[in-house]
Amino acid sequence: MRQESHGPIGVFDSGVGGLTVLKALMERLPHESTLYLGDTARVPYGTKSGEVVTRYALKNASFLLERGIKLLVVACNTASAVALPALSAALRVPVVGVIAPGARAALRRTRGGGVGVIGTPGTIRSGAYQRELEVAAGSGGVRVKTRACPLFVPLAEEGWLAGEVPRLVAREYLEDFSRTGVDTLVLGCTHYPLLKEIIAEVVGPRVSLVDSAEATAEAVEELLSARGVLAPEGREPTHAWFVTDVPERFMEVGARFLGRPIPTAEQVDLSF
Ligand code: DGL
Repeated sequence: MRQESHGPIGVFDSGVGGLTVLKALMERLPHESTLYLGDTARVPYGTKSGEVVTRYALKNASFLLERGIKLLVVACNTASAVALPALSAALRVPVVGVIAPGARAALRRTRGGGVGVIGTPGTIRSGAYQRELEVAAGSGGVRVKTRACPLFVPLAEEGWLAGEVPRLVAREYLEDFSRTGVDTLVLGCTHYPLLKEIIAEVVGPRVSLVDSAEATAEAVEELLSARGVLAPEGREPTHAWFVTDVPERFMEVGARFLGRPIPTAEQVDLSF
């Protein structure tokens, strides 16, 4: 057990998006070392089939596992939605996805029991958030309204976070959400926290936004603490980034998602 607390936390995503989850982890658990893998050669996952995303997810996980991680965070909502059972069955370390923490945070937040979920087409099609919300709500009940918002991903990556274009897109997707009795909206995609302000403006002040990145970091802390493998205070953490395509764009765009520069990223070959 003692030795396990020295291993890094492994985090993977289809690309830069999972850096919003890494950011929340680094803020909440400043002594933990991390290894981040962005599968930039195969991004996007959000429009691919569950079968293909599961294959990529298993490959990503084994890359990180070989490097001695003590816990795996599946930062990608789409991969969490479709590949979590396969990952949990295949790995010998605990696996934390972003769906269950996000769903539980939404249930704690909602006042009237109306929860909206927005995400990639793959996440929404999987029904994973809906299932998680219904199971966690139990007999208390919850009304779930979901919507895929695929254009938010390129907008966030291009840095179009404010102004007419993102506002128009957000209106098209979300304007009627506030009329559906939804009082809580889960940002069920790694990229959406960057568009928080414009989303909040469109859905209005009565709808509270839930960022699954923060909820996931909280779940990771609880799990490490329950297992007695939190990194000791005072430990100087190390952080490393790996990508499956050339690192330049990842480092440039990623700095915006992480909120700090990415000093270096190593390109690795996961072809199979
Ligand atoms: N990381 C993905 C997610 O959270 C968004 C980007 C993609 O489609 O790969 O669902």
